[in-house]
Amino acid sequence: MKKFTTPFYILLVLILISCSDEEYTDITNNDDEQSSVTIDFQNLNLPSTNFNYANIDLPNFFLDNELRNEDNTPNNNAITDDGATLGRVLFYDTNLSANNTVSCASCHIQANGFSDPNQFSIGFDGELTDRNSMGLANARFYENGRFFWDERAETLEEQTLIPVQDLVEMGLTLSELETKLAQEDYYAALFTNAFGDENITSERVALAISQFIRSMVSYQSKFDEGLSQVNDIDDDFPNFTASENNGKDLFMSNRTRCFDCHATNVFVGDNARNNGLDATITDLGVGGITGNNNDLGEFKVPSLRNIALTAPYMHDGRFETLEEVIEHYNSGVQNNQNLDNRLTQGNNVRRLNLSNAEKQSLIDFLNTLTDEEFINDEKYANPFIE
Ligand code: HEC
Ligand code: HEC
Repeated sequence: MKKFTTPFYILLVLILISCSDEEYTDITNNDDEQSSVTIDFQNLNLPSTNFNYANIDLPNFFLDNELRNEDNTPNNNAITDDGATLGRVLFYDTNLSANNTVSCASCHIQANGFSDPNQFSIGFDGELTDRNSMGLANARFYENGRFFWDERAETLEEQTLIPVQDLVEMGLTLSELETKLAQEDYYAALFTNAFGDENITSERVALAISQFIRSMVSYQSKFDEGLSQVNDIDDDFPNFTASENNGKDLFMSNRTRCFDCHATNVFVGDNARNNGLDATITDLGVGGITGNNNDLGEFKVPSLRNIALTAPYMHDGRFETLEEVIEHYNSGVQNNQNLDNRLTQGNNVRRLNLSNAEKQSLIDFLNTLTDEEFINDEKYANPFIE
């Protein structure tokens, strides 16, 4: 020690100050957004300052009463940037499945609007799911707050732990889940930032994944651009082609009544309904959960955001293209005891008699709901370095 001269000490102190300066500038400038514990693990690519999940700058028409009423965020689980960051890691972590082969993202793929291009998804052990995977864009805007095609989960928080324990999908018990996560060094810091201490519980897993999913708001489609340029959704959009505007009018017309079921700016339902897929009900849908005959064959009316990316369609993925979907509503609706009265005329099925140009316009309109920013946004992408 004696050998070190005073100038050397000064130099050392200067070096230390300059290093720490560089490392911590972000923290002092962005106190709100900065996690208290730095997340720096070799297998994870997370930004030094959190992405913004909690305060996304939504267009005005996302903040009107109609959509505020749809928002199913519960009081005890508001989105925080740290919570959603943890949720993102969990969503992409194959540790959530029994043999580390499957994550939530295996069946909810960002490029496909967080659904699965396969008719049925492949679970951890190679078995197939009973139904088609669902897109997750704008899941937050669904007032009745229930999840799955048959709405068997009462809340998103309840939903998120069901695939983990599903014997086809991920195959873990909740205590196995907690034990596995505790073995990964990155979770202590992530849970501390999100919840104040490193205690890993399945309840916290559910809260964090739900925050991440509720942060997945798609609001930058061609439709959104158009809506922001007019006063009313009924007005022609200046950025739309004639066919897209015709399709929008048709979608909202009394003739098709699409907008009566796929409502609001996120084009989602209010309750599960039967849209006449089958004359004889095979998948009991909501009726299989409630045991009520009036609910047989009823399914959630999903948001149509990014619908061009989420093929195949319907709870059983029976339609490969939007053309087939439109033809179903045009000429294929089957009468059955629970067919929704928006699709009937007297005791009969209502036929739409759309021309080919009208069918194409409906499809052109549905294509305007695709949001390239959303499906390419890094904050929703896989944080694991493979
Ligand atoms: C093996 C494929 C698979 C995996 C893994 C999987 N899911 Fe799903 N997911 C599905 C299928 C299939 C459905 C529709 C099932 C049904 O309704 O019966 C679904 C439905 C959902 C829904 C309902 C959406 C809505 O609008 O009602 C949410 C939310 C969801 N999954 C989130 C998750 C999360 C979170 C994980 C990870 C913890 C996960 N999923 C893992 C296949 C999967
Ligand atoms: C009576 C209410 C109702 C009406 C009217 C209606 N839909 Fe639907 N729609 C539903 C229901 C319910 C489902 C899900 C059915 C299922 O999977 O069993 C659905 C599913 C869809 C899907 C597939 C969604 C997915 O993620 O797989 C598309 C696309 C669609 N509808 C478009 C339209 C269009 C276009 C119109 C007008 C021509 C329309 N809908 C009219 C209730 C309705």
